[in-house]
Amino acid sequence: MSDTTETLTEVPESVRSDAFVEVRTDDSIPNNVDLASDKQLQRALESWHPGYLDWWKDMGPDGFQDAPVYLRTAVGVDPQGWAKFGYVKMPEYRWGILLAPKVEGRTIPCGRHKGEPAWQEVPGEYRSLLRRLIVVQGDTEPASVEQQRFLGKSAPSLYDMRNLFQVNVEEGRHLWAMVYLLVKYFGKDGREEAQALLERRSGQQDNPRILGAFNERTPDWLSFFMFTYFTDRDGKMQLAALAESGFDPLSRSCRFMLTEEAHHLFVGETGVGRTIEATCAAMNKAGITDPYDVERIRALGVVDLPLLQRKANFHMSVTRDLFGSEISSNGAEAFSTGLKGRFNEAQLKDDHQLQDALYTVTRVVDGKLVDEEVPALRAINCRLLDDYMADCQGGIDRWNKVIEKAGIHFKITQPHKGFNRKIGEFKGHPISPAGELLTPAQWAERAGGWLPNAADMDFINSLMKPCTEAGQYASWIAPPRMGINGQPGEFEYVKIA
Ligand SMILES: [Fe+2]
Ligand SMILES: [Fe+2]
Repeated sequence: MSDTTETLTEVPESVRSDAFVEVRTDDSIPNNVDLASDKQLQRALESWHPGYLDWWKDMGPDGFQDAPVYLRTAVGVDPQGWAKFGYVKMPEYRWGILLAPKVEGRTIPCGRHKGEPAWQEVPGEYRSLLRRLIVVQGDTEPASVEQQRFLGKSAPSLYDMRNLFQVNVEEGRHLWAMVYLLVKYFGKDGREEAQALLERRSGQQDNPRILGAFNERTPDWLSFFMFTYFTDRDGKMQLAALAESGFDPLSRSCRFMLTEEAHHLFVGETGVGRTIEATCAAMNKAGITDPYDVERIRALGVVDLPLLQRKANFHMSVTRDLFGSEISSNGAEAFSTGLKGRFNEAQLKDDHQLQDALYTVTRVVDGKLVDEEVPALRAINCRLLDDYMADCQGGIDRWNKVIEKAGIHFKITQPHKGFNRKIGEFKGHPISPAGELLTPAQWAERAGGWLPNAADMDFINSLMKPCTEAGQYASWIAPPRMGINGQPGEFEYVKIA
């Protein structure tokens, strides 16, 4: 997958755009929102900027802040040529405010206001709900940078280190995108929220990030790749749903963010894929055919496939919790107000209001898993989760092809939707990856085979030795098929002094 195809496959069809909007890059804050004409907004953002830079220096990548990194910077919103590449020191990265082009005559795509002109200003009656949606999305952006801040030091190559930093600066830009909306449209409350986004900290006891998965640690590179494949994909789904918002500035912000998100998903998919490649190649070379011959496989300095499955199980289940309760009145409210749509809303063939529609939700009733028809409006979260799980499968299939091609009998699968859940219908019900309801005792006995255990994490940790020679890769990961922006294999992506 190259940088171009990644964009085409990961940006949901319903919100793709192809127009070009010029970006003012001479302003201190690059933008295509005509910032220069709104002095008050410009001042508000300029006064937020130093606090952001302090946050970046405190909580952004640990080390490497003075190293020139080969980064892409968004300079336009044309999908074919929206970014330029060059060496930048991260604190000097040009974080900007970029909105996808305005669609003339756009109407609210769903809910009780469907068909009315899209809002260009905050609809007064939905102000606090809208602000909450923006704050929750905004909070995830700096959170992931915080979670990943120590990874630079154990990067398996300069190529991977550069990709990490690219993801980090873009999550920073996503924070800018949400802060722009807060500051421009929500007055004093918005400015306070923008400040609070710089104050919460991932994993901190007294002032944590808002959502659970964003307070988990991302302690190693395998976690990073799983996170960017599975958890950034939640980001993709949420952005896709917000891109359908009747509040047009939010829709346009999210549509542009989706183009950047595509690269994060690419980093995750290819990161796990290359890990699998290295494992399969090492097994073949050593003549090991049994993927469960774990001791011998680990001795080769690669990650055994059952461990990859356990890691995937963990990241999938934690990420599924981000969708919230499957049946939710908040979810219904966000949809009926028209503030948030469904995935690919515009392409769905129904009335987009769901007054009488039903949707099937799997629930636990009297100790059994049953499929129940519930009002579709109340099942909006469940539907987005189902769409998410379907969206996850593409990369998993491609990983399995690598394994199959190597002649090894093993298949990475998605665990049952109810596996290891802490939120929603399955909360408090231990369920195996195969979908059997278990007693707590059965769970306790078997969970170590389904989720990474202490020995697994120790082993992964033992592999996390930095590899900073240009063109070299740690034993556990294969080189990429292609360089970033067509660069050759020996390219020095990060110039470490
Ligand atoms: Fe993001
Ligand atoms: Fe992301």
